[in-house]
Amino acid sequence: MTEKKLGSFRGKKLPPQHIAIIMDGNGRWAKSRHLPRSSGHQKGVQSVRKIVKYCSQLGVNTLTLFAFSSENLNRSSGEVSLLFKLFLTVLKNETKKLKQNNIKLKIIGDLSVFSPEIQVLANEAEKQLSNNNGLNLVVAANYGGQWDIAESAKKIAVKSISGEIDPKKIDTSLFQAYTALAEYPKVDLLIRTSGEIRISNFLLWDIAYSELYFCNTLWPDFNEDELDQAIEAFHSRDRRFGARNSENNVI
Ligand code: IPE
Ligand code: IPE
Ligand code: MG
Repeated sequence: MTEKKLGSFRGKKLPPQHIAIIMDGNGRWAKSRHLPRSSGHQKGVQSVRKIVKYCSQLGVNTLTLFAFSSENLNRSSGEVSLLFKLFLTVLKNETKKLKQNNIKLKIIGDLSVFSPEIQVLANEAEKQLSNNNGLNLVVAANYGGQWDIAESAKKIAVKSISGEIDPKKIDTSLFQAYTALAEYPKVDLLIRTSGEIRISNFLLWDIAYSELYFCNTLWPDFNEDELDQAIEAFHSRDRRFGARNSENNVI
C-alpha cells in the first residue's frame, strides 16, 4: 500500500477511535449494471474487506458495520436467504485472514433467526479471534437500535427483580453497560453510503454525540479514498458536546 493510500490526514491527526458504517446501496449498484441484487451484495463484501483492512492499518480502535437490519427480514425470502448464505460464506472464509491481521470480532444482534450452523460459526469465529488485540470489528446482523435498547432494559429489569441492581441506581452509565457496544469506545463517526439520510434503526443509543457523514457513493464503490474523505470531514468538525469553546466563553 502506498503512503497516500494510508490517509492524507495521517501524521497530522489520529483517526476516529470508533467508526460505524451503514453499508447501503448494493441493490442500486447492481441495478445500474443490469445485474441481480446478489451481485451487488457480493461486490459489497469486497468493500468490507478493503475497509476492514484499511481501518486496521490506520489504527482505528473499533469498526462497527451494519450488515443486516432487523427490518431487512421483511425483504423477499429469496434475498434474505441469499444474505444469510453470504454471511455463512464470509464467516467460513474470512476468519483465518482476520486472525492473521490481528483483528478481533464481535457479532451483535438477535442471532436466533440464523441457522444453528451460522450461530455456531459466529461463536467459533469470535472465540478464535478473541486473543487478537488489533482492530475490534463489530458486525451488526439482524440488529436494530431499538432492539438493543430494549435488550438492555430487559437485562436491567431481570437484575432489579433479583436484587442485583438497585433500581434507584439506574442511570445512563449503568444503562450503557448493558448495551451491545458497552465494551467499546463511543462512536465518533457514523457513515452512511448511498445518499439516504436516515439511521434505519442502526445505532441509536450510541450515536448521541457521533459525527454523521452521508455520501452518495454506493457501498460497492466505497474504498480507502472515500474513507479518507469521511475522516477528513470528521477532523473538520468542531465537537462541542454541549459545552462551549473557551474562546466563545464570553457572556
Ligand atoms: C445494503 O444494500 C445491504 C443490505 C441492506 C443488506 P441494499 O440491499 O439496501 O441496497 P439498495 O439500498 O437497495 O440499493
Ligand atoms: C439499512 O439499509 C440496513 C443496512 C445497510 C444493513 P436499508 O436499505 O435496509 O434501509 P432503508 O430500508 O433504506 O431505510
Ligand atoms: Mg438499502
